Amino acid sequence: MRVQPSVKKRLQPLFPETAIAKRVQELAQDFAALDLHDPLAIPILKGSFMFAADLLRAMHYAGLDPEVEFMMLSSYRGEQSSGQVVISKDIEGGVEGRDVILIDDILETGRTLAFARDLLMARGARRVMICCLLEKPGKRAVDVSADAVGFQCPDHFVVGYGMDVSHSFRQLPFIAYIPQDGDS
Ligand code: IMP
Ligand code: MG
Repeated sequence: MRVQPSVKKRLQPLFPETAIAKRVQELAQDFAALDLHDPLAIPILKGSFMFAADLLRAMHYAGLDPEVEFMMLSSYRGEQSSGQVVISKDIEGGVEGRDVILIDDILETGRTLAFARDLLMARGARRVMICCLLEKPGKRAVDVSADAVGFQCPDHFVVGYGMDVSHSFRQLPFIAYIPQDGDS
């Protein structure tokens, strides 16, 4: 069912396009300043696609040219985390001895990124760094922290800039939230 028309009117802007673009440049410069060994960037699909596209271009302009592969993981059903992480698409090459940058949209319970980090470390990565656009504080269920975070995210369900509710709103160039009952 298309949620877009009815929910669209209720969207509350959170992070505008200009703020995201500025932060993406800063993140790219931070990574470019590191001495990375055979870097491989892995966007975690699907929610990170827009962030990853902008971040990878910004990395190029900052002088960092990682190889790029994709992994599709899901741990989220509707608006409630299911806890279980499933690999829908794996990377094709090896990671042995390489510095990996995982790129994701949101670090919430941390289950998705902890799973990916542990998997790639077990495959022999030299280092696995985590870069996420948003971090929801106070939600962590497992021991994982990001090496780079775009913004701290208030405890709302957010959409836009790749992030969705039932595949809607990924196309928005900004980040907004959908007010729920009880939200201030
Ligand atoms: P977790 O850290 O394993 O709990 O899951 C994080 C993933 O849940 C993110 O990569 C998103 O795909 C999804 N997610 C968490 N919060 C939101 C939200 O507010 N909007 C859209 N997706 C979300
Ligand atoms: Mg995700």
